[in-house]
Amino acid sequence: MILAIETSCDDTCAAVVTASGEIRANVISSQEVHSRFGGVVPEIASRQHLTLLPAVVDRALADAGVTLDDIDAVAATRGPGLVASLLVGFSAAKAIAAARRLPFIPVNHLSGHLAASRLAPDPFEPPYLGMVVSGGHTLLVDVRGPGAELRLLGSTLDDAAGEAFDKGARLLGLGYPGGAALERLAREGDPEAFELPTASRVPGLDFSFAGVKTALLYKVRDLGDAEAERRRADLAASFQHAIVEALMIRLRRALKERDVRRLAVGGGVAANGALRAELAQLDVELDVPPRELCTDNAAMIASAARFSSNLRYPEYLGLDVFATWDHQADGAAPM
Ligand code: KG4
Ligand code: ZN
Repeated sequence: MILAIETSCDDTCAAVVTASGEIRANVISSQEVHSRFGGVVPEIASRQHLTLLPAVVDRALADAGVTLDDIDAVAATRGPGLVASLLVGFSAAKAIAAARRLPFIPVNHLSGHLAASRLAPDPFEPPYLGMVVSGGHTLLVDVRGPGAELRLLGSTLDDAAGEAFDKGARLLGLGYPGGAALERLAREGDPEAFELPTASRVPGLDFSFAGVKTALLYKVRDLGDAEAERRRADLAASFQHAIVEALMIRLRRALKERDVRRLAVGGGVAANGALRAELAQLDVELDVPPRELCTDNAAMIASAARFSSNLRYPEYLGLDVFATWDHQADGAAPM
């Protein structure tokens, strides 16, 4: 049984998962305090993690009906993310492991998002094409083996897909984070009302969302305050449509180029209903985890930990967290 902790951004998460990928507990405490600032304030997030984490871990153990005596290994997100936030969860996890001389498993957050598809009751087995669409990253990867054998095929040249949703939502006067709120507003609008760019001319499998964000800004400006307000739902629907289409263009390209018929998608944006509906239309064997396993959670971190090597006490005591993952410098596998 693995106890996992995830504190890379503004959700304080702990989970208990069995070696076969069965979720025994998955506790997510979302920090509401940031909405009034229009974005996550790193220092506040870190302090909130400090306050919330002990209760979140206790709750996960209680939900699972276990004590620390039943835990065989402890895992935590090492990066990428906000350093001060990562430090809280990573240090706590190392301390729990060290106190009990348990093995420890550092996990890359992006591998975690992909590993959400590997949980019971329907674990998706490699090889397959993987897409991560989160607030900080947009990646297409080849998932080849059970462990960290990932090869990067494409990533974003500028904003991440979730970041684009958040910036669009902000422009339309929705709070932070804005992806889910923008989706709700878009349900009342016409996705064809405005034509917004999908960066289809960016060659290969890389993404770009700077253009659609700027196009929305100009559209709102051209319409003027009153008209933009009246057409908010149409703007939201058209914006969402352009982002989903931009993702689908690269996915279709990748599936064709690589001649694969299996696809797993993870990350917060994979909770989006419009994207899920488009994905379901693809002629592939598809795995999109339930919404609560798409957005940040610790069950996915425990899941990834199952496929990584354990570090024995005291090997892990000196390990540090990292803010960014540079696939060029750090190699193909995001571990
Ligand atoms: O994976 P995640 O929870 O955290 C990161 O690793 O970044 O992703 C958060 C991102 C945010 O940008 C949020 O606006 C977006 O996922 N998101 C959505 C939806 N739910 C969350 N975007 C579009 N539609 C949604 N329903
Ligand atoms: Zn995430």
